[in-house]
Amino acid sequence: MEFPFDLAPVLGERFCVVDQHLRPAGRGGGGGAKREELEQQLRTVIDELGKASAKAQGLSTPVTSAARMESNRHVMYILRDTRSPRGAVLGFLKVGYKKLFLLERDGSHVEVEPLCVLDFYIHESQQRRGLGRELFREMLQRERVQPHRLAVDRPSEKLLAFLSKHFGLRDRIPQVNNFVIFDGFFSTRTAPARRALPRPRPEEPIKPYSLSERDFLREEAEPPWPFNLSRGSPVRGSLRPFLLRRESPAGTPPGTAPEPPPRRASSLGRVGR
Ligand code: ACO
Repeated sequence: MEFPFDLAPVLGERFCVVDQHLRPAGRGGGGGAKREELEQQLRTVIDELGKASAKAQGLSTPVTSAARMESNRHVMYILRDTRSPRGAVLGFLKVGYKKLFLLERDGSHVEVEPLCVLDFYIHESQQRRGLGRELFREMLQRERVQPHRLAVDRPSEKLLAFLSKHFGLRDRIPQVNNFVIFDGFFSTRTAPARRALPRPRPEEPIKPYSLSERDFLREEAEPPWPFNLSRGSPVRGSLRPFLLRRESPAGTPPGTAPEPPPRRASSLGRVGR
């Protein structure tokens, strides 16, 4: 992906790490006006990457833009081809920590705050050449995280194949939201920070279910199963799974999970985009 300006002062070396401050990699090189120009160019690169990724995934709106980067504590790893004269952008990976309510294998809920894969794109002309793996590995190294500790926000089939091939991530722990996690996510050594869910007091605002980066793309306002079971009831959907556990009829073992719906987690991610 090429741009009508030199990418070296904007992105620096092969890997460029961008956070919410949107700082161009190049230092100095002129006064405030030059700096502003580089910042604007970085915004252009991020916006164009976001659009290209959305198009590749068939999304109606990008989940990555300069404006969204500024308002979230996400980190973007941008991969650049330094061989061409002005440089070309090859792709990017966006990650960020998110507070999620997730299900363990036994059906119990925990609140965790793992690093999440939020958006990932390699230019069409460069896919299946190992660049995605190179970028992903760079992220793992810099973030000091192991692949099975990640949560993935509505992965595409390509990303699922990628994670399986390069990192052996195959066995999913079924969830009721759009995040996909794999075996080993909850294993005790260096597990992501977790805490037991407190019993909410009636006057407290009820927390939403785990919000995906892509939830704003949904056309339907209805949350996923089982959060949608309580329509018409005074209990808001987001509390429903916890109430289901507490409200188990006599004789039902505590911690028994509600029956899952007859659809696979893999189909969740592609609905309503
Ligand atoms: N079909 C199926 N699997 C694919 C495809 C494809 N078209 N492209 C890549 N893969 C998987 C395969 O496992 C492939 O191995 P194989 O060629 O032996 O079958 C492996 O990825 C290749 O690994 P890399 O070359 O390192 O990956 P690549 O550079 O192609 O990057 C990525 C992977 C980012 C998923 C890229 O294919 C892409 O940009 N796809 C379109 C956008 C997309 O789906 N992004 C993920 C969205 S979901 C999210 O971000 C949370």
